[in-house]
Amino acid sequence: MLIRLQKVIADSGLASRRKAEAFIAEGRVTVNGRVVRELGTKVDPQRDHVKVDGRHLKPVPPHVFVMLNKPKGCVSSLSDPAGRPTITDLLSGVRLRVFPVGRLDYDSEGLLLLTNDGALAQALLHPRYHVAKTYAIKVKGVLSEDEIASLERGVILEDGLTGKAIVKKGGKAEKNSWLEITIFEGRKHQVKRMLEAVGHPVLKLTRVRFGPLALGDLPAGRYRYLTDREANALRALVRARLGSSSPSPVTRGSTGSPSRVPSRDHESRAQVRRRAC
Ligand code: URA
Repeated sequence: MLIRLQKVIADSGLASRRKAEAFIAEGRVTVNGRVVRELGTKVDPQRDHVKVDGRHLKPVPPHVFVMLNKPKGCVSSLSDPAGRPTITDLLSGVRLRVFPVGRLDYDSEGLLLLTNDGALAQALLHPRYHVAKTYAIKVKGVLSEDEIASLERGVILEDGLTGKAIVKKGGKAEKNSWLEITIFEGRKHQVKRMLEAVGHPVLKLTRVRFGPLALGDLPAGRYRYLTDREANALRALVRARLGSSSPSPVTRGSTGSPSRVPSRDHESRAQVRRRAC
């Protein structure tokens, strides 16, 4: 992510943003060895070497991206005032503090992205980016073609008409059926409310894709670090939606790359104990 130079300096704890601007204007700041006086300059704190008065800024922790297969019966936040099991119980091996990008209901499962890259997380959650989220769902009954068409066009919920969706029919059981639904918004309980609106309550919900990421065969309750390729795909998605032609801000291991962290999925002891989480 490219960030304004004065913010990078301020984030390092060296000075306030206003003071950092003064440092820049006074020619005290170099980026990759060159004096920069332009306040609008953007840099990649993971890649560019920023110095003030010839001294490096304190290193910013590398960006880390984690994919968790959140199990049912687990809150998708880091803590829970009600004392229920949380995703923190499942992430004890992740040393840097990461935050969930969005949420999944307590009784939902599937792909939950976590990162310490706040700017990217914010962008991925922003409605303007329309990040696709795909859910495999089991619903009561079997949807008619009309009901599927209406889900795809948009249904009226109490917070307004939903945007377009893509629905693929899956298998049928005796009284229930499976669907895959892709939505491009992130309202609370959206999929459940949409299916409720067409008369087919959701019985089971698993998020299987988030933007360019696929859950694959990661078992419930386990996590893995994203590869550099996956993290760059997320960044590319945001850049593409921004219509920016700026170069990729990250080219070296800032993503919890497999060279720095184990590439296999992990299961903490707490996780094993809390398999029910
Ligand atoms: N939609 C829902 O209704 N629940 C989730 O957990 C995610 C999407």
